[in-house]
Amino acid sequence: MRKKVTIVGAGNVGATAAHWIAAKELADVVLIDVVEGIPQGKALDLLQAMPIEKRDVSIIGSNDYADTANSDIVVITAGIARKPGMSRDDLLNTNFKIMSDVVGKVVAASPNTILIIVSNPLDAMAQTAFKAAGFPRERVIGMAGVLDSARFRTFIAEELKVSVENVTAFVLGGHGDTMVPLSRYSTMAGIPITELIEPDRLKELEARTAAGGLEIVKHLKTGSAYYAPSAAAVEMVEAILKDKKKILPCAAYLQGEYGISGLYVGVPCKLGAAGLEQIIEIKLTEEEQAALNKSADAVKELCTVIGVA
Ligand code: NAI
Ligand code: 2OP
Repeated sequence: MRKKVTIVGAGNVGATAAHWIAAKELADVVLIDVVEGIPQGKALDLLQAMPIEKRDVSIIGSNDYADTANSDIVVITAGIARKPGMSRDDLLNTNFKIMSDVVGKVVAASPNTILIIVSNPLDAMAQTAFKAAGFPRERVIGMAGVLDSARFRTFIAEELKVSVENVTAFVLGGHGDTMVPLSRYSTMAGIPITELIEPDRLKELEARTAAGGLEIVKHLKTGSAYYAPSAAAVEMVEAILKDKKKILPCAAYLQGEYGISGLYVGVPCKLGAAGLEQIIEIKLTEEEQAALNKSADAVKELCTVIGVA
């Protein structure tokens, strides 16, 4: 039997995630939204691309959570997106209400599912989903680090004029201005980039990464990035469905790791069939740990405002 993935929110990120999942023939897809017609229309359109793409998957659009029953994974992208002049944190209160409502319905229909949270502000929304779902932390994971590190990898590959396949990069911390691109653990074909790129230039690439979402919002003017975010969420979906034991930076509920407790923060995670299977702890310098603590404090502040700290 094919796997089943529900995507809540049939907007830019949600519909494009459905596209990547179908194109990779990973699972049957259910696209859910509050707006009537949008998930149905997008799902049908995508389904009609399958004979051309030679992919056998079912794709349905719906406004009814009964259709999502027994999903293996649910990706939650529901909410409002960032517009020019808005920070991710401006989305906090609206998306908190949407996330709490959506998670209740998702969990009732799929009590054994794994949740991948995408809506912003990401770490606070992952924390909201974790508290609302009552699932173990293994089954509630936030997507941000895969996107942020893909942005960093893009900039490093351009700088060094090498294939993106040769570049690995890590970004830790919350998905906000305080995120921590870790140059010391980023490599080109195994060589630390700190040996290949001058410190001042590296700082510029790190800063561009931290502002990566904003750079795209400024271009688009009416919304935020969605191709790379959806691809990032689907890399997590694939790692879980295929039990790949893949190490990816994700927002996870920390219970003492990195000296942080009771909070979602981006850290290196192993993803497999059980969801979050391990948090990888790496040694940080004093400066890196201080930056991570500052980022965690920013997440905690938001969680406190919405009462999920
Ligand atoms: P969008 O506006 O294109 O789509 C959002 C969809 O959610 C809309 O179709 C809307 O009707 C739907 N929606 C609203 N309330 C709902 C509810 N109660 N139930 C079901 N559906 C509901 O926005 P886009 O660009 O797809 O972004 C979605 C979210 O993902 C935003 O919060 C955005 O900030 C966030 N995001 C997070 C990223 C990350 O790295 N974690 C990256 C990119 C976006
Ligand atoms: C991004 O980083 C808006 O969080 C979204 O593109």
